[in-house]
Amino acid sequence: MPCSWLTLVFAVLPSVASVAQAAIVEHTFSVSTLSLPRVCQPGNVTVTAVNGRVPGPEIEAREGDTLVVHVINDSPYNVTVHWHGVFQRGTPWADGPAMVTQCPIRAGHRYTYRFAVAGQEGTLWWHAHSSFMRSTVHGALVIRPRRGAGAGDGYPFRTPDEEKTVLLGEWWNGDTVVLENQAFSTGKTMRNADAYTINGMPGDLYGCPEMTNIRIAKFEVSRDKTYLLRIINAALNTAFFFKVAGHTFTVVAADASYTEPYETDVVVIAPGQTVDALMAADASPGCYYMAISSYQSANPSPPFNGNTSTAVVEYIDAAAATSDPSRSPVFPTLPEPNDTFTAHQFYTSLTALVRPSRLTVPLAVDTRMFVTVGLGFSFCQPTQTQCTSNQTVVATMNNVSFTFPTTVSMLEAQYRNTPDGVYTRDFPDQPPVVFDYTNTSLPQALSSTGSPSTKVKTLRYNATVEMVLQNTALVGRESHPMHLHGFNFFVLAQGFGNYDDGDAAGEEKLNLVNPQERNTIAVPTGGWAVIRFVADNPGMWAMHCHIDAHLRIGLGMVFEVESGPTPETALPPPPPDFPQC
Ligand code: C2O
Repeated sequence: MPCSWLTLVFAVLPSVASVAQAAIVEHTFSVSTLSLPRVCQPGNVTVTAVNGRVPGPEIEAREGDTLVVHVINDSPYNVTVHWHGVFQRGTPWADGPAMVTQCPIRAGHRYTYRFAVAGQEGTLWWHAHSSFMRSTVHGALVIRPRRGAGAGDGYPFRTPDEEKTVLLGEWWNGDTVVLENQAFSTGKTMRNADAYTINGMPGDLYGCPEMTNIRIAKFEVSRDKTYLLRIINAALNTAFFFKVAGHTFTVVAADASYTEPYETDVVVIAPGQTVDALMAADASPGCYYMAISSYQSANPSPPFNGNTSTAVVEYIDAAAATSDPSRSPVFPTLPEPNDTFTAHQFYTSLTALVRPSRLTVPLAVDTRMFVTVGLGFSFCQPTQTQCTSNQTVVATMNNVSFTFPTTVSMLEAQYRNTPDGVYTRDFPDQPPVVFDYTNTSLPQALSSTGSPSTKVKTLRYNATVEMVLQNTALVGRESHPMHLHGFNFFVLAQGFGNYDDGDAAGEEKLNLVNPQERNTIAVPTGGWAVIRFVADNPGMWAMHCHIDAHLRIGLGMVFEVESGPTPETALPPPPPDFPQC
């Protein structure tokens, strides 16, 4: 063995072979409990998983294919599956967020998700969208160009020799559904993850005495080949810095949208985001660590898990000639946890690869919104039965703290035109009070909110929406990864401070030429972002912070997009096996 780390259990990724052309890609997801070893503690823990593995199965499709996924819930919990980043044009009932588009699939029940992956290519993923279950219920969803789409494999960059999925996650030595409910009922946020993971494994730097085996992912490479890394941040609450020692990357896509090639030695990735990066195996043959550590945007910073998780990149063919059994893998230098400069540099350097087939930025705006995003203090809710301090942290958008309805999904209420008691159409376009949003020394009174509610912003079919997302600093400065269901949006500008207050010289210029297209934007800590999208898909589309701890306490809202004028643009009826509450 050419590298000296001890690997009692390691996993070689299944090689990503190209699938036969298939108009229909069919999978069965059996959701059930699974026993897995704890990290740094003896014994096992019971988690929820799909088909007996964490991460769950990877779905591979080509643009234009139809996915049919039968979800069979053999777990004791309610579950739904969301196809993160899939437009779901014409299939809003398949989107998956619990109580927004569907009632959960109850224990012992099943539901079949049917939808096409059309008009988008790249790396997406799927995850449970009910409680914190997505910590272990998630997997990659890879959409390759359709066959015959241009030269090679149809990529707008040099065809890689191989592709490798790199799923980043967070791991708890416990059942996250239970941990979350405990935390919420006491009015606290859930404790930090016990480990970060790469393809489900923490790596070899968790040097704990009880540890009986090292579980580390291994990526085998051949000298001078080029690899397409499909990097997904499936962590619940943590953004990551990602590096491979001795190697650099060319970013070619983010959130399944092609970018201008961007050269970097570090990838920064917030929860919910994906990055496709080419990596040439051009280092001297040997072993190199792939490593992730957390990007802690919060200031003041709460306690966080400062561990680094690892995988190994090993040159295989040249190994025999160069092997030195005493040599450890080379380790990369990771940024400091609070290195906002590096994060901002990465996030703002991406621009779209402009292609004839690509949607261009809409220049005329129909609906303008200015939306504050952040945490605040409020009274304990009646459902927080063990909340004793009578004050708890809530999260809001324009001072509205979101809560999911309980009796029927919002989409069903929209379809039947029975919103009463389910949602109201008064999500505000502006915050109720204009204040110095990013000032950290404001009185807490400003942040008190009413009780959580279910408000939507109703959009006319095809309306162009521009939204300024303005982070607040009432509890602290922090970057919120805001995710929009059902659409990609263009990121026209981002900056620090308060939007439009004139001190962000030059940054407020909107990029209307080649802005990056995303489904999740990490709004800069103590700053803002301007996004634009076209509401051309009728349905109920959630927009929320992809930090689960923030969504649970209200950091979300929902767009209700009305039907268009033709039968094809009208909201379709629910499928016959649609789950009931
Ligand atoms: Cu990836 Cu609403 O989530």
